This record gives sequence, structure tokens and C-alpha cells, in this order.
Amino acid sequence: MLISSRLPSGSKLVCGRPNSSSVVETVQWTEKKPVKNATLSACRSSIAAFLILTSLTGAAFAADLDTWVQSESRIATNKLLANISPAGTLPGTIVASPSRANPDYYFHWIRDAGLVMDAVVTLHQGSANKEDQQRYAKLLFDYVDLSRRNQLTSNPSGGPADGGLGEPKFNVDGSAFTGSWGRPQNDGPAIRSNSLIRFANILLKQGREDYVRSRLYDSRLPAETVIKADLEYVSHHWREASFDLWEETKGQHFYTRMVQRKALIQGADLAERLGDGGAASWYRSQASEIEKEIVKHWDGQIIRATRDGGDWKSSGLDTAIILGVLHGGLNDGFMSLTDDRVLSTVERLKNDFHGRYGINGRDTDFDGKLLGTALGRYPEDKYTGYDSNGLGNPWFLLTNALAEFYFKSARHFQEEGQIQISATNERFFRSLPIRARLQLMSGQVYDSKTAMFREIIRSLREAGDAQLRRTKLHASSDGSLSEQMNRDSGYMQGANDLTWSYASMLTAIWAR
Ligand code: NOJ
Ligand code: NOJ
Repeated sequence: MLISSRLPSGSKLVCGRPNSSSVVETVQWTEKKPVKNATLSACRSSIAAFLILTSLTGAAFAADLDTWVQSESRIATNKLLANISPAGTLPGTIVASPSRANPDYYFHWIRDAGLVMDAVVTLHQGSANKEDQQRYAKLLFDYVDLSRRNQLTSNPSGGPADGGLGEPKFNVDGSAFTGSWGRPQNDGPAIRSNSLIRFANILLKQGREDYVRSRLYDSRLPAETVIKADLEYVSHHWREASFDLWEETKGQHFYTRMVQRKALIQGADLAERLGDGGAASWYRSQASEIEKEIVKHWDGQIIRATRDGGDWKSSGLDTAIILGVLHGGLNDGFMSLTDDRVLSTVERLKNDFHGRYGINGRDTDFDGKLLGTALGRYPEDKYTGYDSNGLGNPWFLLTNALAEFYFKSARHFQEEGQIQISATNERFFRSLPIRARLQLMSGQVYDSKTAMFREIIRSLREAGDAQLRRTKLHASSDGSLSEQMNRDSGYMQGANDLTWSYASMLTAIWAR
């Protein structure tokens, strides 16, 4: 029924998620006439046939990666912006997804919002004209106001001075969400201040110190400004157990600690710049205490996501490590993108997820180009995007994070000017698409003048592109991205138009 004998160009491995009318939008066998109304299982079996057909015909996707990246970057920007202050919400609200049921993601999550607005800071910085720049600035100013309002709103985690900043999400009218939830989540205030510290530094450069002092950072205590309140919260509460970024496990988390450390170090610089030297040294002292805890997550093989909690995840593997390095890394030599422990963990994650998800069985695209590995949250995951009674799936934002990781580590190795192959990182380098004629030697140090160094850099970039091809393969043909893709069929599922998926798309593309 769905399978045509000839494969039109432009067909894509795409399925919409089941919507309320339980109709699934399925494979678009022609660009113009999408076939709808098929059931999910029909959709799945058609995929199998599709894969066989395409391997026979060698049919190619319409766009090559460069072209797709260009259009996807425009689409992701527009779709991300559509989820900021949508009609009916308080200005400054970032909905995690427009989806209001199955799953209901129509909330302002502190973590998602902070990561999304970090991308908006970059858009603001890179604006081609004044109008764009002002448009982005307006979104950021609204976000600052909403953030301050969130900080002052008493909620189930507490009030402004006693724990309320750890609250993970708010209703879109700015009121407290009072349902049961995994709280507190202490990565939130750190992520929020990381984006706002960047914004504050830009504003200072533009001569807007008055605004910065009145809304973002001022030394007064109790804190009256957003960043100050967040840094006070982070510096006084970081030792306490909190829920992880996946909102499921209470304990001490590598991810949370990495973003907290970054907030305190960057915050200390801002404090100093604004004449708050005492606070600066307090924040720095806490950052170095946090470092002592972060390194304990290394178990000799991998960086484990959680300590003192989360024992039910026996593998200890979690892509939160990749996110922690990307969102919390300062490239200052501490747990950097080129750190052996990080590289070792990345290889183990990639290897595990490669074997875990059916879709990863295919490792070249329709042009015969390398396809990267679709990554999920952690091996034991049961969250299907709708409930937690099934099997976890790959996520776009994690698959994109690995692309970003490869691109950025390539650049970082180039800055360092040499690559040392060690017992700890060797498997990572061997997992790269290094051309066969070159032999990687254990124990060797390759400096930037060697052919092997250049080949490693090339293969890191190729591995990054391969990750983007993976996203391209499973993204909708209109460029939209949900939260997850089904591990076996590859069809999108979970919250549609996840704002964080778009932010991850942009940061990966910018790193390319
Ligand atoms: C369960 C998921 O595992 C968790 O990560 C998610 O935040 C909640 N459901 C809400 O969707
Ligand atoms: C579930 C994810 O696990 C969590 O990290 C995220 O904040 C929420 N969904 C909202 O996107």
C-alpha cells in the first residue's frame, strides 16, 4: 500500500508522532502528496521495505549535508523563536514544546529555557542588522524579567531565600507549578546564570552598565538581581543532593556540578568587573571545592553520571556527561573536550548506543556517506516520550550534542597542537573514521605537523558530519524535530518541536 515500486527522490525516513486523532502522518513518499492515515505498525514495516528498496536503487536524498545544514539552521531558528513567548504566555516564557498533552511540555523549564536563551544570546551577538539585534535583545530582556519573577515566586521547593530557586519548572502564566515533581533540580539556576552572564558581558561592552546593575548583577544582599541570586543559591547549595537533568534521580551529578562550576567561575569574573571582589573570591573558592567532587565521578573507565544516588542505573553510562562538558566546560584544562577521561566515556557511550538501537544498524546514508550513532539518555532508560513504561529511544538533542562535541574537540586539539594516544583515550581514537592507510600507534604523540594529526582532525570533523547526517535522516522533511526518534523505526516521537532540540541543532551547526 505505502510502498511504491519506484522510490521518488525526496522520500524520507520520517513518521510523525501519533496525534490526538490517533492518526499517524507517515512516510512522505512524494514531496507533494504525503501519504497519511497509516498505522504505526504499517509505518514500521514500510520502513523495512523502504530500506531494502533504497539499498537496491541507491536512491539519494534530495539535499546534500551542506545544503540541508543551511536550510535546517534557518528552520531551527524560526521554530525555536516560535516557542518563546507564544501567545497566551507571560513574555519571556519559553515553552519546552508546544505539546500540551501526551506529553504535556507546555511549561517554562528553567533548564531548557536557559539553554535555549544561550542560543539566543549567540543569535543576538551574530545579528546581521540592528532590527534583528533589537528583536533578540527584547526576548532576552523579557527572559530576564520573567526569571526574576520566577525567583521571587514561592513554590513547592521554597521561597526566594530558602530553596525556591531549585524549582525545575513554572506554569506559562508565571505561577508556581504545584504538582508532584522531581525537585529541586540544581542545574537550573546555574544554567540560567551562564546564559545571562554572557548577556551581561555583552551589555557592559555596549555601555549598558546601568541596566546590568539594576537587573542582572549587583552586590546587594539579599540579592535583588537575577545573576546575583542564582550565584548565591549555587554557591550555598551545591553540596546538597538534587534531581538530575533527566528529573528522575536524586544524588550528586556530574552534569549539575559542571554547570555550577562554570557559573561560579564566570560569575566571579563578572563580580570582580562590577567591584564585588569579596563575592568573587567566595565564588572561586566554591568552584574549586566543586572540582574536587567532580573528579570523583571518574571510576577508571568512565565518568559516572551520578554519585550517592541512582544506583538503579547499573551501567553508570549517561550522555549527560557529553552535555556536561559542552554546557559546563570552560576549555581551561579542567574536564575539557580533549580530556582522556571524557574521550574514554564518549567512546563507551557511542559504543553502547550503537548496539542498543536498531536504527544504528544502518551506518551509511542513501549516498553511501557515513551515518553517525543515534544517542539516547542512558542505557536503562524507559521513557518513550509519552510514558516511562517502555523502552528509551535516541534523542535529537543528544545525537546533535555528539556532533558538537566532535567539531569542538577537533578545534581544541588544533589549539593544543598535539595529540597523545594513551591507554585511556586509545579506544576513542580507534573509533574514529580514520583512513585505513594510516596506523594509529599506542603511546605515540602526534604533533600538528604530522599526517596522522591532520587525519585525526579530519576524522573528528567527519564524525561530526556523520552525526548531523543521522539527525537529517530522521528529521521531518519540513525540518522539524521532536524530542526522540523511535529506536527501531527511526520515526520521530515524543514532544513535537522540542525547543531544546532546535537549540542543540543550532549549537552543533555553529560548531561545525
Ligand atoms: C519522565 C521522564 O523520564 C523525565 O525525564 C521527564 O522529565 C518526565 N517524564 C516528564 O516528561
Ligand atoms: C524531559 C527531559 O528529561 C528534561 O531534561 C527536560 O527538561 C524536560 N523533558 C523538558 O524538555
